[in-house]
Amino acid sequence: MIGDQKVLFSGMQATGNLTLGNYLGALKNWVDIADEYLTFFSVVDLHSITVRQDPAELRSRARKLLALYIAAGLDPEKNCIYYQSHVSGHAELAWILNCFTYMGELNRMTQFKDKAAKHADNINAGLFTYPVLMAADILLFQADVVPVGKDQLQHLEITRDIAQRFNAIYGDVFTVPEPYMGKVGAKVMSLQDPEKKMSKSDENPNASIYLMDDPDTVIRKFKRAVTDSEAQILYRDEQPGIKNLIDIYSACTGKTADEVVKEFDGRGYGEFKMAVGESVVTVLKPLQDRYNELIKDKAYIDSIIKNNAQKAEYYSLKTLRKVQKKVGFPERIR
Ligand code: TRP
Repeated sequence: MIGDQKVLFSGMQATGNLTLGNYLGALKNWVDIADEYLTFFSVVDLHSITVRQDPAELRSRARKLLALYIAAGLDPEKNCIYYQSHVSGHAELAWILNCFTYMGELNRMTQFKDKAAKHADNINAGLFTYPVLMAADILLFQADVVPVGKDQLQHLEITRDIAQRFNAIYGDVFTVPEPYMGKVGAKVMSLQDPEKKMSKSDENPNASIYLMDDPDTVIRKFKRAVTDSEAQILYRDEQPGIKNLIDIYSACTGKTADEVVKEFDGRGYGEFKMAVGESVVTVLKPLQDRYNELIKDKAYIDSIIKNNAQKAEYYSLKTLRKVQKKVGFPERIR
């Protein structure tokens, strides 16, 4: 809480091209609930360097992601959209919280184990303490709710543990955050392997719809989507490909799965795939148009970056100064 307002914090990494999964599963949820909270949406570039990055590439992707937040419908005057690296409180609080987090806890993090296996040549300390930085992001703004995907729930759990541990020692310093899980059905699966989540790092470009894919590409990918030989459009686990297409169509049209099943009763997969593709194009087109306009407007984007970094800094310092005092750092002399 800040004053009498509930706070929402979330962030995304600017690595890889965002997919329809990132949009329907995360960004769209943010837009849907943003009005109810004092919000902070960060482009979490500090997290990105836990894996080796090309500097120019990272900078360029970070800016694109920030513009995409706005293109997706987040008003940057109302929602604090900013770069994590512009607010030093993230790193400063992360250091303090490192001293309140146990090696044993971090050793249990499944994402660390996965990433360590994937980047065996670079298992750095930052990768290990990644969840502590994430806790700092969230606690720095006294967030009440944190929209996250399932894969981040464990990180939210450790954030809560760290907050409670700190509060138990020093009194009520941190708000203990709750995860906010989007509607079921918002989880988008790969078009080529519907048992797997649609991922921006998938090597097969046909597996994912990228937010900047043009209409022809979108339609072509849906035409090639892996389905089954059941020849019936039903919403059930035995038909994961069709189920995924129904989920995508529901998310894009606002219809329920039942309504979609009724609508396509007795119709062929080819026709259904076209309809799903078109529903996605209808959702992506305005987003792409806004994005293309925005990214050209350098002065506007720069002003958003500057103003929101200041706003984020202002709120972050309230928490940071309090925490520094609690742990015993000397007061600043002015
Ligand atoms: N770890 C998150 C992810 O990869 C991104 C993230 C960083 C985040 N800090 C956060 C998400 C704080 C929510 C809140 O998806």
